[in-house]
Parts: sequence; structure tokens; C-alpha cells
Amino acid sequence: MPLEKNEFQPIIHKCFSQLQRRTTYTMEHSLRAAEIMERMVAEHLRQGGDFLDFGYLEGKHAGIKGLLRGKEVELAGTLGLAHDIGKVVLIKKHGYEMWKKTPDHLSDGEWKIIRSHPYHSAEFIRKIKSPFSDLVADLAFHHHERWDVKGKEIPLPSRFLTVADALDAMGFDRPYRKKLSLREVKGVLRKESGRQFDPEAVKIMLKLLDKDWKIKAHFKPR
Ligand SMILES: [Fe+2]
Ligand SMILES: [Fe+2]
Repeated sequence: MPLEKNEFQPIIHKCFSQLQRRTTYTMEHSLRAAEIMERMVAEHLRQGGDFLDFGYLEGKHAGIKGLLRGKEVELAGTLGLAHDIGKVVLIKKHGYEMWKKTPDHLSDGEWKIIRSHPYHSAEFIRKIKSPFSDLVADLAFHHHERWDVKGKEIPLPSRFLTVADALDAMGFDRPYRKKLSLREVKGVLRKESGRQFDPEAVKIMLKLLDKDWKIKAHFKPR
């Protein structure tokens, strides 16, 4: 992420300082998600793609679209860094215990709280003073939505983020499973293309997994 001062800085600064204070695990995940997003979007743009496709939010954010041309990579990195900030809000309110549990040990109430984190991310980001807060908030809100349920109604940056997020999750050990190998990750992406994930975002990610050593380096080769 470029270090010079820009309109994304208030969002990056506020989210990063909260993440750093409260949760190393989510902070590290968010930093990796930011990097994966930046690399996905750079590849997408290289192929002539448009990243500023906001689906049903198109009208709401039409006014700032012009400001974002040429800043797609910064937008992607900011979104990657900020998307799970709602977890910090929930950790402050309910403590950290439930976040350490495996999914099958969560009560219905805990599950509901965890599932609400995109809403809290959006609420947190929306309050930050930046011309892009409202957009980044809306994009973060949709980061766990399924392609086969909502399709193109989901803003494209959020669809990319779903894949970047999953890629990072698969590249790290969880209490209930070991991290996946590169071959296994590609298998999951292909299987979920058109189901959980937007096929376009999967295509970009598969390309990166073939040629981008910084992304490949997360995984065992086989
Ligand atoms: Fe999330
Ligand atoms: Fe995440």
C-alpha cells in the first residue's frame, strides 16, 4: 500500500490501530487480505477489467466513481485491511472466547454474533471521515455473500474480497484443520466457482496462483 497521504489514509489508520490493539490474529489476516486484494486487482486491471462495478450500489456511489479511477489498487488494499474490523467491535463487546472455538462448538447465539461482523465492519467504517468511507463500508458489508445466491447484485470488489478472504483462510492452519496445499486450494476454488465464488474472481486468483510467487508462497506445493 503506498505510504503517501491520500484519502484512504483515515480508514487505513483507524482500522489498523484498532486491529493492532485488539487482535494480532485478525490484524495479520487483514494485512494479508489487503495484499492479496491489491495483487488480484492489479492483475484484473492488467487484463483490461473494470474494478469499479458496484452492482446495486452503482447509483449511490456514482458521484465518487470519477475520483476512484486510477486508485483501484488503493481501494482494494483499504477494503482488504478494513473488512473484518467489525470483529474488533464484537470482541470489545463480547470478549474473545467465541472466536477461538471451532464452528461445531459455537452456540446459536455465538454463531449469530460472529455472522454479524460484516454489519459491524460497515458501521465502524462509515463513521470514519473520508470521502470513501461510505463506499468501503458498503463493500465490506457484502464480503460473505454467495455468488449463487446474489450474483452480480453483489458489488464486484466485495466478490473479489470473498475469494481473497477464503484464500488467506485456506493458507493457514485452523484449530479444526491443517492449511491446504496449493493443489488443494486450486481444487476448492474450481469447485466453488459459480457457487460460493464469482467465476471471474476465481479466474484471476487461479492465474495468480500460477504466476505470482508472493501468493504461491503461502502454500505447500502439493
Ligand atoms: Fe469476514
Ligand atoms: Fe476476513
